Amino acid sequence: MTILIDQPDYFGSDVEAKTVVANETELVLDGGFVKPQANSFGHTFRDYAAESERQEGVENFYRKNHIYQSFDFVKKMREEYGKLNRVEMSIWECCELLNEVVDESDPDLDEPQIEHLLQTAEAIRKDYPNEDWLHLTGLIHDLGKVLLLPSFGGLPQWAVVGDTYPVGCRFDESIVHHKYFKENPDYNNSAYNTRYGIYSEKCGLNNVMMSWGHDDYMYLVAKENKTTLPSAAMFIIRYHSFYALHREGAYKHLMNDEDVENLKWLHIFK
Ligand SMILES: [Fe+2]
Ligand SMILES: [Fe+2]
Repeated sequence: MTILIDQPDYFGSDVEAKTVVANETELVLDGGFVKPQANSFGHTFRDYAAESERQEGVENFYRKNHIYQSFDFVKKMREEYGKLNRVEMSIWECCELLNEVVDESDPDLDEPQIEHLLQTAEAIRKDYPNEDWLHLTGLIHDLGKVLLLPSFGGLPQWAVVGDTYPVGCRFDESIVHHKYFKENPDYNNSAYNTRYGIYSEKCGLNNVMMSWGHDDYMYLVAKENKTTLPSAAMFIIRYHSFYALHREGAYKHLMNDEDVENLKWLHIFK
């Protein structure tokens, strides 16, 4: 598994909350939102995981998520993390590393991540003993959460966990805490705020940009490393937090026939 080495000061503590700096390229997220507390960003993971962020609660988590996850932000993150030049490690080493992160969107905060991975894989093995690719998918589906660790950029929780959704087209009303999208720079951008936005009917979800997080990152890692996993596995990895799709049935107009087939596997997985 090969992941980025370069460590731009994303979300650096000395950086204004409205500005995310990636090397020389400045990305301004001007959604007009309130500047978060200084220690919500940029410190080491351990600092980040400390009390302040946790107390903000789920709603504030989604407020930040919905404000910052714009099309431009996702594009920048995909470009940066798609280089896969951070760390090289085996899958099992990554599973062990994941134990150091806390997913604050997870109601069972005390469950070590590695237990979640193993339990997911074993539960699937029990029900689908012959689908070995699905067992492996269960084992690795959350490995992208290493984005929270300093060696992977120490991204804030809102850029790693929680529900995901397409960017580049209208934010569906079924997305949790939808009201906070009003402060997202894309909300009033006529290129991005229609039913199809920059996409077309049945264009296929793999042509759709998703809000940035551990799902899309692990998808990129697997894809760029030329994984031999089937497309259903890649679908599960990329869309398992896409609740608007697999729970609410939104965005189906962007799905192609292969997506329709793969969604059945995702329903099994969830
Ligand atoms: Fe996940
Ligand atoms: Fe998970």
